[in-house]
Amino acid sequence: EKVKFDYSKAINFIGEHEFENMRPMLDVAHNLLHNKAGAGNNYTGWLQLPEEISNDELEEIIRTAEEIKGKCDAFIVVGIGGSYLGARSAIEMLTNHFHNYTSKDEKQTPNIYYAGHNISSTYLAQLIEIIKEKDVCVNVISKSGTTTEPALAFRALKNLLEKKYGKEEARKRIIATTDRKQGALKKLADEEGYKTFVIPDDVGGRFSVLTPVGLLPIAVAGIDITNIIEGAKACMENSYNSDISNNYCYQYAVARNILYSKGKTIELLVNYESALQYFGEWWKQLFGESEGKDYKGIFPATLNFSTDLHSMGQYIQEGKRNLFETVIQVKKPLEDIVINEEENNLDGLNYLAGKTISFVNEKALEATILAHVDGGVPNLIIGVPKLTPFYYGYLVYYFQKACGISGYLLGVNPFNQPGVEEYKRNMFALLGKPGFEKERAQLLKRLK
Ligand code: PA5
Repeated sequence: EKVKFDYSKAINFIGEHEFENMRPMLDVAHNLLHNKAGAGNNYTGWLQLPEEISNDELEEIIRTAEEIKGKCDAFIVVGIGGSYLGARSAIEMLTNHFHNYTSKDEKQTPNIYYAGHNISSTYLAQLIEIIKEKDVCVNVISKSGTTTEPALAFRALKNLLEKKYGKEEARKRIIATTDRKQGALKKLADEEGYKTFVIPDDVGGRFSVLTPVGLLPIAVAGIDITNIIEGAKACMENSYNSDISNNYCYQYAVARNILYSKGKTIELLVNYESALQYFGEWWKQLFGESEGKDYKGIFPATLNFSTDLHSMGQYIQEGKRNLFETVIQVKKPLEDIVINEEENNLDGLNYLAGKTISFVNEKALEATILAHVDGGVPNLIIGVPKLTPFYYGYLVYYFQKACGISGYLLGVNPFNQPGVEEYKRNMFALLGKPGFEKERAQLLKRLK
């Protein structure tokens, strides 16, 4: 079964001829990406990654994951942004919702925790409290090796491990994923003798989930990473042809640009499966960081339905008409429940007896799409057969490729992120980091 793209619920907003009109622009974007001739082309290594990742590398990741699984009952993934969201999106999508509440005997994998994705002292203190009596392994992930959040969290966790196990054993429980040669983490890992995995030079953070950045934690969670790569490869093949009529990935990229040009400046990625919540977070970074620059770009937001229909539904139906939705429709749930008959029918639900919960979810999806389209919100639908590792890999590649194409259609460099440095400079100045003395004096004046 295939992942499909359906824009029939946006047809009031996008004419068929508009797709035709976009063909020349799409050809340009396709060639820029595939010939590595566009802006940011030195960060397009993700494009051929599913084919280039070697069996040896996959085996080494799997072997290390097995070792970690055997050694610990708490595995901590330390990273932020592109060094965090990919792994979490896969783990949340593909493991049991209550993964961390079941015993290791039952699931054969450690509990998974995250650190270094915020600067909350409360979060870190409570995490340490939860894991301190457990057997712990840590995977610290940072391409630059100098990001403050993961570096701070790692310092505290390293200290904990060294006190608990001694330096020798602690070093065997820490794995660093970082740059081939640069950065503080690379230096630290070399000095301490940690096992390391390399993030390829030509793959940026938000495009790195199919490298050891994502694959190692995902494998520790017991997920079949070879299937993920297979899925990505399938999408790579299906999205290779620049002819838009046969390429669902390009149809999505073009449709969202047509909608953007008509004032639909906010895209809501909608799911009806709670396992997709963090996939939305990953997607948000991918598109937000790739396209939001030069004072333009679609603003990406995510919604979890039907939950958010009870909070944001009103705005979507009747608020400012600058929205469109991209719905991820999962065709078959992993599990289902038949609704039982009740003798007294006090809750009035007997009309659903014998039906399944997923049937109700499906009707909620259909009803909502129609209502929102009637309310002036175009809906794009991406149909996914099932939430399996194969389709996870497929979707990752699908959105990465669509993002590269979409960015070139928009006329931006989709592979840089100059804007994220501004707050960091201010923060370093306010923290008193050496080298930021002048900025510090100016900022302190402004804060008075
Ligand atoms: O995509 C990006 O550039 C960011 O989200 C980075 O991935 C994030 O800041 C983490 O960077 P690093 O891996 O260098 O620690």
